[in-house]
Amino acid sequence: MTGSAEGKVAPLSYVLDRPANAPLDPPPVYAELREESPITRVSIWEGRLSPWLVTHWADARAVLGSPSFSSDIIRPGMPYYREGTAQAPRGFFGSHDDPVHAMMRGTLTRNFMIKRINEMRPGIARLTDELLTEMTGLNGPVDFVQHFSLPLPSLVICELLGVPYEKHAFFQEQSRILVGYKTTAEDHARARQALAAYLLQLVRAKRDTPGDDVISSLAAQADSGVISDQDVADLGAFLLFAGHETTANMIALSTITLLQHPDQIPGVLGGPDQVAHAVEELLRYLSIVHGGLRRVAVEDVTIGGVTIRAGEGVIIPIHIANRDPEFFTAADDLDLERANARQHLAFGYGIHQCLGQPLARAELQIVLPEIFRRLPDLKVAVPMEEIAFKQDSVVYGVHELPVSW
Ligand code: HEM
Repeated sequence: MTGSAEGKVAPLSYVLDRPANAPLDPPPVYAELREESPITRVSIWEGRLSPWLVTHWADARAVLGSPSFSSDIIRPGMPYYREGTAQAPRGFFGSHDDPVHAMMRGTLTRNFMIKRINEMRPGIARLTDELLTEMTGLNGPVDFVQHFSLPLPSLVICELLGVPYEKHAFFQEQSRILVGYKTTAEDHARARQALAAYLLQLVRAKRDTPGDDVISSLAAQADSGVISDQDVADLGAFLLFAGHETTANMIALSTITLLQHPDQIPGVLGGPDQVAHAVEELLRYLSIVHGGLRRVAVEDVTIGGVTIRAGEGVIIPIHIANRDPEFFTAADDLDLERANARQHLAFGYGIHQCLGQPLARAELQIVLPEIFRRLPDLKVAVPMEEIAFKQDSVVYGVHELPVSW
């Protein structure tokens, strides 16, 4: 273990604050560590765990793509976010390995295929238009998070799942608890169960009156014995949570980023291919899942010339891997025309790669052009240092964003 790494990494949690003077950049300590040694051991939880930190793009991809690593959150050696973490139900398949992971994910893949998501595009465009019309009908400044960036993905995921949006305050609150890295293991489990309990009632109601939605299609799979009703409820809870805190934060942070780089706004106003490319660069640049992905080796494996032994944990801070200058030229710069932007790891890589990425991409590709087309004079209504960034969350974002136009 290198002394420098031990001294630099936060003692209680490995989620470090992004710098106050450059809140869209990763914490500088990671770049220093990457410079010293791309794969290094760090000390977390007051030294009770000493996982490897993997900071290079190529090594991060190698770990995420390797069957020698497990995602099982209670496997000994797994770098945990919270002490006392218990196993998640199998419907929260991101925390499980195959075959459970593959079986659970397989029940959903049809619903997240690009073709299916593309059919949702007109509906997403309509909701975008409605929300922007409502927001601009108010007297500014208004909170962009409350009026736009959170309700849009929340409405979309509710519609996809077949969950009534009226309960949004409840979902949004549980999702916020689930991504908080200061949330205790007990509160985390409670929020997960609260969501699943609500979903379980809904599964039963959908049996009587099925709709063209994911919960109804899962309920039908439960009827044929593939999965249980509890699995359906847990899968629904997992998606509801994953669909809320991610895209919402990405919309708000992308908006701030573009306002900070006004010369690049035309990059989101061009044709569909140009916009799609710009979105990939924003995903790379912002890398909102900044808690760091985590794995534990199930067998001895050599990554980047370093042997990681069975039972040793690994943290993969994807925000820093996505700023690796060996792979991305001028990696700290936003360049919406960057040729290899799409090779970012913002959605992860390998078997756990984000299931919702076609949906997140569709939302961002629709929303960002519309915001800047409709609101050419959009401004953040407070100085940058007054914006409350989500330093306390596994998924980075803003708590509020006052804007005027
Ligand atoms: C910009 C938005 C999003 C980002 C940056 C993002 C990022 C990620 C990342 C990094 C992972 C991999 C975790 C790991 O390897 O341990 C992941 C997994 C996952 N995401 Fe997303 N996500 C986004 C939006 C969504 C949405 C909208 C949904 C659902 C509607 C979703 C559902 C999931 C699911 C179910 C998994 C688990 C996949 C598995 O373990 O096989 N995500 N996401």
